[in-house]
This record gives sequence, structure tokens and C-alpha cells, in this order.
Amino acid sequence: MSVQPKKNSKVTINTLREMKAGKKKIACLTAYDVSFAQLLDDAGVDIVLVGDSMGMVIQGLDSTIPVTMDEMIYHGKIVSRGLSRAFLILDMPFLSDSSIEQAVKNAGRFMKECGANMVKLEGGADQKELVETLTRLGIPVCAHLGLQPQRVHKLGGYKVQGRDKAAAEKMLNDAKVLEQAGADLLLLECVPDALAKKITQKAGIPVIGIGAGNSTDGQILVLYDILGISAGHVPKFSKNYMHLTGSVQQAVKLYVEEVKSVAFPGDEHTFN
Ligand code: KIV
Repeated sequence: MSVQPKKNSKVTINTLREMKAGKKKIACLTAYDVSFAQLLDDAGVDIVLVGDSMGMVIQGLDSTIPVTMDEMIYHGKIVSRGLSRAFLILDMPFLSDSSIEQAVKNAGRFMKECGANMVKLEGGADQKELVETLTRLGIPVCAHLGLQPQRVHKLGGYKVQGRDKAAAEKMLNDAKVLEQAGADLLLLECVPDALAKKITQKAGIPVIGIGAGNSTDGQILVLYDILGISAGHVPKFSKNYMHLTGSVQQAVKLYVEEVKSVAFPGDEHTFN
């Protein structure tokens, strides 16, 4: 039986788990409006993330930190109107999860007002209690490890994470704790290839990478980076598909094909 989602059958957390088990790669992209959301859905993108990267690529901010809940709700609502098949994840913006009570209220708004299928939150084992609470309440969680852009000032810049032994062991433990707490998906950002591979092999849940090599169960990139229209710096782990195809539809389709066939990411997009 094929584990690729059928053209019009809605992707669920079960589909994503089956894809991991069947070694079928999961293709994910960000979107911030209805027209792109529909285009991504039609092109076969499995997961659409309304990321707080919106602050940088839509609002022209120099970090994701100022992005608010109301802005995420606005974009979440309009993206959800464009999706019929893809799984929808919304990013919890900076400090929207600063207490359990606050996080439940905000994640609940994403589910109720935007029709989100999952919320994504940055942080490691320190988020255990929050992940347990959201899980108990029926709110699926994607845990974001590695480079956590909301903690850029604590990290001292946008840098590859988990390079030394202690940091790598901490990340492996974070992944384990968060999965045990009930997380249904892990996202690894800017993580050396070998560590991402180890985390993916140990995890029972799907692992999506961005700048984390080609061993993860799926890939995600910022839409405007693959179209070559981002206002700011484009990271080394991204790839411009617009140059290769010349149309937005074909660019997104080629990205999906390359994720599925593991042609992307190549060595030039990978950290060792
Ligand atoms: O906000 C975002 O777009 C993200 C991606 C970097 C995965 O979190």
C-alpha cells in the first residue's frame, strides 16, 4: 500500500507517521497567505507552516522576536483557507508560551480560530510540562530544536547548534524527553548532518530538517527563499528553485520532487 497521501486526502499525523515508517520523505514549506497556500497544496506539499519567519520575509524585521499572536492568527486564518490536503502548523511566537496557562490559551486560539492541525514551539526538555499539557488537551505539538531563532540573543547569533559533544548529547536528550512528553513531530534547524541522522533514527516520531542534512524524514524551507524573493540574507542550506524553473508553480513542484527523491539537500546545503 502506498503511504504517499492521495491527491485529495487530508494529511494527518497518522499519514506523517506512516510516511516515516515507509521511508517516504515529507515535503514542507512555509506560507503566509491564501494564494501561496493553495499553490503549495496543489503542488503536493505535505505540511504548510505559518512560521514566525513571517516577521523577517513579510514584515522586514531583523528577527522573529517582535511577531505577535494577533499577526500569527491573521496569517494562520488566511493560509488555512487555501489548504485542502496539506497539514497546517502554526508557530507559537516569542513569549506566547511563557507560562502554561498563556500557552494553552494561545495554542487553543490557533486550533479554534485558524483550524491549525498542530502548533510548533521552540525549546528543549524545559518545555516538557507544556508539551504534556498540550498533548493531554488534544493539541498536537511540533518541537523545534537546534537553532531556535527566538533565542538568537541567548545563542549569540544564527549559528549551527550541537557541534560539540555536550551540546549534541543535550539535543539527543531533548528530543527523547519531548517525544516522551507527547510531541508528534520534531523540527531540527541548523544541525550537523550526523547528529540529525542519529536523532532521526532514534525518534519514533517524524523529524523534519532545515539545514540538517538529508537523513531527516522530511525537509522544510522558507517559501520566499526558494523563490529567490526574500528581502534579507538567504542561508546556505536553502536553494533557489525559481532560477531553475522560471515559474512559481514549477519551482514549488521541483522542490517537492527533489525532497521526495532526496536530490535536495545536497552536500552544499549541509553542515558537518
Ligand atoms: O518560522 C519559520 O519559518 C520556521 C522555519 C525556519 C522552519 O520556523
